[in-house]
Amino acid sequence: MTDPHETSLDPEDWEAFRKRAHDMLDAALDRMQTTRDGPVWRAPDDALKAGFQADLPVKGRGGDAVAGQMTELLPYGVGNTHPRFFGWVHGSGTPSQVIAEMAAVAMNANLGGRDHGAMYVEKQVVDWVRGLFDFPADSSGLIVSGTSVATIIALKAARDRVLDFASRTQGIGAARLVGYTSTQTHACVARAFDVLGLGSDALRKIPITKNYQIDLDALREAIAADRTTGLIPFALIGTAGSVDLGATDDLETLADIAAAEDIWFHVDGAFGATAILSDTVRPRLSGLSRADSLAFDFHKWLHVTYDAGFVLLRSEEAHRRAFSDRPAYLVGAERGLAAGNPWPVEYGPELSRGFRALKIWAQLAEHGTEKLGQMISQNCAQAAYLGDLVTGASDLELLAPVMMNICCFRYTGKGDVAEQNALTDEIVIQLQLQGIAAPSTTTLDGKRAIRVNITNHRTTRADLDLLIREVRRLGAELSGNSGVAKPE
Ligand SMILES: Cc1ncc(COP(=O)(O)O)c(C=O)c1O
Repeated sequence: MTDPHETSLDPEDWEAFRKRAHDMLDAALDRMQTTRDGPVWRAPDDALKAGFQADLPVKGRGGDAVAGQMTELLPYGVGNTHPRFFGWVHGSGTPSQVIAEMAAVAMNANLGGRDHGAMYVEKQVVDWVRGLFDFPADSSGLIVSGTSVATIIALKAARDRVLDFASRTQGIGAARLVGYTSTQTHACVARAFDVLGLGSDALRKIPITKNYQIDLDALREAIAADRTTGLIPFALIGTAGSVDLGATDDLETLADIAAAEDIWFHVDGAFGATAILSDTVRPRLSGLSRADSLAFDFHKWLHVTYDAGFVLLRSEEAHRRAFSDRPAYLVGAERGLAAGNPWPVEYGPELSRGFRALKIWAQLAEHGTEKLGQMISQNCAQAAYLGDLVTGASDLELLAPVMMNICCFRYTGKGDVAEQNALTDEIVIQLQLQGIAAPSTTTLDGKRAIRVNITNHRTTRADLDLLIREVRRLGAELSGNSGVAKPE
């Protein structure tokens, strides 16, 4: 029986739809091919903003109008596809990712579980990650949105294990769990403590040494002091590549301390862990393979399109026991679509999960670890080159050693610290507003720094020469000009 009123959301005219899709593909590729030509960043203008303040459409505007508006949006990205994007820690993506994303969209797979092709792609990625970090064959992993979520998952397993998993049903009750990390650690770790009901104060921030590593003596003392007051040390969090400076803790000794104290050893390797692919950085990551858990991103230094993070746990059992919950409607089977156990839903909080695995797999499969590692080494060499340019300029000051891929410096203007900090802020804002480059800022020992993070396979040394030239030009212009306001 056919009902003439039945309809669907598929195109009525597939030929017209194909043309629209091909036009968008061309527009996307044009954008990527010409990324170097335009400004690094352009501020969203009023027309663009107004276009996204419309009423919720009751009658659709049709695909052509929507595609047109999306094409206009293309130039207004963060800027991280540009060779002179140096802010925060952003990967720069690769054109091939468009192809992987098209295939993923066509499949529209849900990777919460079940037995279908996409699941084997994720299993392959998990297996590659195990091998990459020299984790045991029975360790477990999950693709997630990013390191922040990966950290929550890892520390939940740590929390539940120390409470014999009773916390899953009873909460943490009066248990006074504490964890340890350095003052350099990314804020996502304290946030994980907050989310897990431990409170961010339960994360002890141990001071750092002059090498920007966690002070191991202070750490041992803090653990001992907490034990004497009846607290339960349960997690030690090391960093491989700190967000401000790219510093890496002494992971071998942290692994020793964690083993001696029977504490879960987690490593935040958001971008630094992937430097295991770089011949020059790898030796500094010794000890990483001894972690109980590792959180890192593919979307940073491996340039997979946002978002793509990963959590790797040594103990599959602890991982599964912290999350597994299979109600009747999710029961598996030996055969048919409900086969393919265990399912990813047993290793994290998400049931519906997109097909991030495909773009990760495609990136690794197309470029290979050797080339990706070379890109990482190249960025580290470029950061060292930038450090040399800074030290060679009498009006610039290097604010910390270049340890990996990050260079923090400032233009040495006149005035007190507050005036100099305001000058640094203004130089960075002008670099961004004028579309020249997009570094970010941080503060080191009270001094505001121009923070140049290079996780960008498009950057060349000429881009860094230009950056230095422009910082010096702006610094001279702005410091000769009392227009830089001193903060109240
Ligand atoms: C060292 C470090 N840890 C954690 C994070 C958080 O990662 P994500 O933004 O993928 O959640 C970052 C982000 O830059 C980072 O640099």
